[in-house]
Amino acid sequence: MHIDPIEKKWVYISFFMAFFMIGILTAYAINYNIKPPSNVETIDSTRLHLTKEFNEDNLGIKRADDGVLEVTMVAARYGFYPQNMKVPANTPIRFRIASADVLHGVHTAYTNLNTMVVPGYVSQVTTSFPHTGEFSMFCNEFCGLGHDYMWSRLYVVPKAEFKLDGDK
Ligand code: CUA
Repeated sequence: MHIDPIEKKWVYISFFMAFFMIGILTAYAINYNIKPPSNVETIDSTRLHLTKEFNEDNLGIKRADDGVLEVTMVAARYGFYPQNMKVPANTPIRFRIASADVLHGVHTAYTNLNTMVVPGYVSQVTTSFPHTGEFSMFCNEFCGLGHDYMWSRLYVVPKAEFKLDGDK
């Protein structure tokens, strides 16, 4: 088969570019400890309010049975509930998030908390926040006309200042 030399050159260049970009992504992922969420757990998104875990009274941060701090959140058009949350810095925190309607995404600026929230599934991500401050959690999957206004606040406070109701 005859391949024009110039065409051949472009084939090499495009392969090089593809592998170069894969290399950048890999280096970035390793450097920033980014990994895809791997929890697969189904839930009936139309009945979240009737479940023990995702009903309105149970949302927020608490200590789970295994001792880990756990944040239970609902994503629904157009907000994340609870809308303000305080968490301690440098502490592993398990986020469990479910959608009450359509596909949403949670992206917390300047942190590695970023996951899709697919209706019918529970998104689970464990991470810890090295820096204190006020962070915005944005929805990063287009979910409707109010998508741009779908966000909430995460306050990361020094570990010593954090107190959970019921903790000594
Ligand atoms: Cu929820 Cu965009």
